[in-house]
Amino acid sequence: MKKILITGAAGFIGSHVLRLFVNNYANYDIVNLDKLTYAGNLENINDLKNMSNYTFVKGDICDKDLVEKLFKKHQFESVIHLAAESHVDRSISNPMEFINTNIIGTVVLLNAAKALWNNNYAGKLFYHISTDEVYGSLGEEGLFTETTSYDPKSPYSAAKASSDHLVRAYHNTYKMPIKISNCSNNYGGNQFPEKLIPLAINNIKNNKKIPIYGKGENIRDWLYVKDHAKAIDVIFHKGNIGETYNIGGKNEWTNIDLIKKLCEIMDTKLKRPLKTSEKLITFVKDRAGHDLRYAIDSSKIEKELNWFPTVTFEEGLEKTVDWYLENTDWLENVISGEYQEYYQKNYEI
Ligand code: NAD
Ligand code: DAU
Repeated sequence: MKKILITGAAGFIGSHVLRLFVNNYANYDIVNLDKLTYAGNLENINDLKNMSNYTFVKGDICDKDLVEKLFKKHQFESVIHLAAESHVDRSISNPMEFINTNIIGTVVLLNAAKALWNNNYAGKLFYHISTDEVYGSLGEEGLFTETTSYDPKSPYSAAKASSDHLVRAYHNTYKMPIKISNCSNNYGGNQFPEKLIPLAINNIKNNKKIPIYGKGENIRDWLYVKDHAKAIDVIFHKGNIGETYNIGGKNEWTNIDLIKKLCEIMDTKLKRPLKTSEKLITFVKDRAGHDLRYAIDSSKIEKELNWFPTVTFEEGLEKTVDWYLENTDWLENVISGEYQEYYQKNYEI
């Protein structure tokens, strides 16, 4: 039995990674440590709860005693670390949570792994999941490669950059076997509706305004979440120790074009006359320090590990819309309570 700790697997990407690992690797013993913040939801992984190769532990990665106890009890050989505060807008209004979870939490995990593994690193791995935002913002040209200098611009990306540096420092200083991947924007089912695509789907469904920051000219490189989960699987099993892999969709969209495409799909799905949903588009105050463009050069993972995105954007967007329209209970549950307060505070429309 390979013993693996996956952190943050009740969240968006983590839930897809956990499902892939639990279903594909019956011989792994997998523990999911998740604090169940507003973004974590056991409904995301309800189908896995009775699987014999899986255990859920509710807890905080910053809780040193708990983390040390878990490492001792389960004798983890590998860690796939996804737990994080992940929303840029929330990092602007409350940076401290991001410093705690993304930086301190990562160091708590690194220290627990270091203590348990005690320089006996054969067969061990600390795999840290990061973001393309650590590279900062691109102009109209160019792509982020694995050697692009770090230049994070938001408290979220600065905290993620810091955690990347710390993971590399444990490799360099203590020889801990690590891998890091930096991925572009994910979309798909289970994503909390504070992020652009699910927020827009929810608003269109409810005939509410779609808030577009600034002029909608910012560009993101979108990847279907299940393709990201497959990349994590490939890197975990075949990636080289000490290496970084960039993961992207080769799929750049301005926010405004993306939302127009989404409106078109929603009009068809909701049987509304074409162009009905587009009327909901509303330009609002820009995000502070808003990064202009992200785009990933993923040639390293393609050449070395033979990973490629498999889901086209049209296909992925349609699957995503279908998921949100089918999972109305999930959506209603997550948008009750805290979300309403968050929405009121952040959007004056
Ligand atoms: P998410 O916000 O949907 O989920 C985060 C999960 O971590 C939740 O289940 C939450 O409960 C848990 N968590 C938060 N703080 C915790 C703590 N202190 N202790 C234990 N659990 C805690 O995030 P996501 O979008 O799924 O992102 C997952 C990871 O992937 C993050 O590290 C993020 O930086 C990275 N990433 C995300 C994207 C994206 O587009 N969403 C792209 C690239 C990289
Ligand atoms: O690039 C990877 C990153 O992608 C991840 O590391 C982050 O965890 C993830 O949240 C995402 O960050 P972004 O800031 O790019 O995602 P978000 O969905 O918040 O915003 C996407 C774009 O849409 C961005 O340019 C801001 C804009 N936007 C967002 C919201 C929520 C709007 O115009 N209106 C909105 O209401």
